[in-house]
Amino acid sequence: MKVLVTGGTGYIGSHTCVELIQNGYEVVIVDNLYNSSREVLKRIETITGVLPKFYEADIRDREAMKTIFEENDIDSVIHFAGLKAVGESVSKPLEYYDNNIYGTLVLLEEMRAHNVNKIVFSSSATVYGDPKEVPIPETAELHTTNPYGTTKLYIEQILRDAAHANPELRVCLLRYFNPIGAHPSGLIGETPNGIPNNLLPYIAQVATGQRDYLRVWGNDYNTVDGTGVRDYIHVVDLAHGHLLALHYLDEHEGVETFNLGRGVGYSVLEVKNAFERNSRVKIPYQICPRRDGDIAECYADTTKARELLHFKAQYDIDDMCRDSWNFASKNPDGIK
Ligand code: NAD
Ligand code: UFG
Repeated sequence: MKVLVTGGTGYIGSHTCVELIQNGYEVVIVDNLYNSSREVLKRIETITGVLPKFYEADIRDREAMKTIFEENDIDSVIHFAGLKAVGESVSKPLEYYDNNIYGTLVLLEEMRAHNVNKIVFSSSATVYGDPKEVPIPETAELHTTNPYGTTKLYIEQILRDAAHANPELRVCLLRYFNPIGAHPSGLIGETPNGIPNNLLPYIAQVATGQRDYLRVWGNDYNTVDGTGVRDYIHVVDLAHGHLLALHYLDEHEGVETFNLGRGVGYSVLEVKNAFERNSRVKIPYQICPRRDGDIAECYADTTKARELLHFKAQYDIDDMCRDSWNFASKNPDGIK
């Protein structure tokens, strides 16, 4: 079975390619290398023994996408390619709508033209905005507070409409919570450009000495210790979720939405402590004012993914911190 993985050299994509290859799938990657490097392909080969077929192309490039579908007998698509920085999306909304939404439209049109009818899409818990209740079920109200989140919401709707018009089209919308960690080999992981926005990459850079201390954005939330609570999930577990989503699409028609999280919330200070425990490096920190747009608590109701996808996360917060540190300490300058 051949799977086209858009954004397959990126953080979640690369781990998913490993999972697919190790489960007997043939992988074809398309990525414009905007936020990743060609070296990732060699690392995937080192882990799996297979060098995935790679096209360096933008998913908005219709001719390139046409060629990919013509040259490969694609059975299904996993669609990761997109821009993902919340703050940047506020200052560059048009770039985000163009890349994420137009890119998806070109992909869907080429899938239709080549009769490819299964797609798994990377959505995000950001579509729940500031949730009314936790844990958050898939049926919770949807609303977004920034253009990045809006692209996810719109793409979900575009996929529902496309499936409504074409009953052959099968869609899994996967709403990720907070992916962290790295492949246990330390060969692939998250390599943010510039100053990291997200908690784990920031902590990792404090641990490697690239940043002086962690800024904890607020300790006056109504949470266990006043700091923000999130549902962290190991990226290898998340990658496995994509394999299960492909299996699901083999058996089921229509569109289905799944939360992918662990259903457990950890505060910023709990994550910092877990990182210290697993790296044996002290993480200095300062409490700072709340970050604009942040919410107090966000964690998943995982019932649906457990019952329909048979998804169960294997790795806990200690594993996540250990593997994040293993990758960061081995690759302080990212993957070049
Ligand atoms: P990433 O930036 O590491 O990977 C995305 C990949 O897509 C990169 O390799 C980039 O070069 C490529 N890309 C971007 N635009 C492209 C285009 N137009 N054509 C071809 N390639 C393009 O990001 P990630 O963390 O692996 O995220 C993957 C997906 O999951 C994204 O859609 C993201 O929005 C979504 N997501 C991520 C998180 C998270 O916390 N990492 C959470 C929820 C959802
Ligand atoms: N945090 C700090 N200091 C930092 C970075 C983060 O205290 O330097 C705190 C945040 O305030 C928050 C928690 O750590 O309480 C997690 O923050 P992240 O930025 O790692 O993650 P978010 O939950 O804010 O955002 C993530 C993704 C978004 C996505 C959102 C919802 O980055 O793309 O989850 O799915 F939209």
